[in-house]
Amino acid sequence: MEEKNNEDLNPSQKEPPIVTTNMPDVVSTYNSNTNRNQMINGRRYVNVENEDYVLPNNKQELNSISLQHSLLKYAWCNNFSSPIHEALKTGGLKVLDVGCGPGTWLFDMCIDYPLCNFVGLDISLVPSSTSDVNNITFIQSNVLDGLPFKDNTFDFVHQRSWMSSLSMKQWEPLIRELKRVCKVGGWLELLETDMVYYNEGINTRNLRASRLAFFYSKDFFIDVCNHIPQFLESVDSFNEINKEECIIPIGDWAGKIGELCIKTIYEEYKVIYPELKTIMEVNEEEFDEILNRFVKEANENKTYYKTFRFFCRKFM
Ligand SMILES: C[S@@+](CC[C@H](N)C(=O)[O-])C[C@H]1O[C@@H](n2cnc3c(N)ncnc32)[C@H](O)[C@@H]1O
Repeated sequence: MEEKNNEDLNPSQKEPPIVTTNMPDVVSTYNSNTNRNQMINGRRYVNVENEDYVLPNNKQELNSISLQHSLLKYAWCNNFSSPIHEALKTGGLKVLDVGCGPGTWLFDMCIDYPLCNFVGLDISLVPSSTSDVNNITFIQSNVLDGLPFKDNTFDFVHQRSWMSSLSMKQWEPLIRELKRVCKVGGWLELLETDMVYYNEGINTRNLRASRLAFFYSKDFFIDVCNHIPQFLESVDSFNEINKEECIIPIGDWAGKIGELCIKTIYEEYKVIYPELKTIMEVNEEEFDEILNRFVKEANENKTYYKTFRFFCRKFM
């Protein structure tokens, strides 16, 4: 497996492009007689049998996902690592984004590659069709029931930030399913983080530990980053398995990217405050104070985290 990282990158020299695609209203494409959502403590969550997705799908979470997209694009300097830019430019390829959320990655991709066709799939609310864009289709579906596509449909299958969605035993079957819908000669790409903050202070460690405790309580496989290469190899259909690493600095010690990162992490923690408050035994004011201390500490310690892309080609 080839490994690369971005330690030579000096991200503070670039301006972060906050992606503010014309995000259409989100709608459900499921049978309207079926309520796929539930309200818990005034927040909207997906409500689908056989699925335990824990983050809400309200505006705050969807905005937080869009902010994460901007941060990842800025840090990585692109939207993917698989060597298919030229083929996408030529056009005629089919691209699938699994767990597309509000579709921010797809809206960005379809601007760069207008001659390709994109499909976004998510269990939760998906964007309604928009007259501005005619090469993206959104489908609302639960991946754990199998992908609703024939074998060998897509030239590029992309999946990002699924660590807080699956248990350990759900990962390998999902990768087999991603492989099934990928064409022979096509590429599969996954992006995840290892949930470690490097150079973290004591307050930062406690905050991260409470988030991990929450994910553990839901049985999520938070160590998935260290196992993805094995999962890809075990499927026996992929070669050219690559791993790339990108460091993302937290705090304005690293300029614009660090500021954007703080904003993104702040939003992520605010989204899960209702879950963390019982683990941490704090009220909202105390929680905000902890977040403020986290920002200060990250600057003092030059804290950062890592994201990883895994990409490989299906050869049979
Ligand atoms: C953290 S978000 C990431 C969104 C998007 N991939 C991105 O990076 O901008 C994870 C997404 O996976 C979706 N998801 C989780 N479990 C799913 C399932 N079983 N089937 C389909 N989508 C699922 C969630 O609804 C959510 O939109």
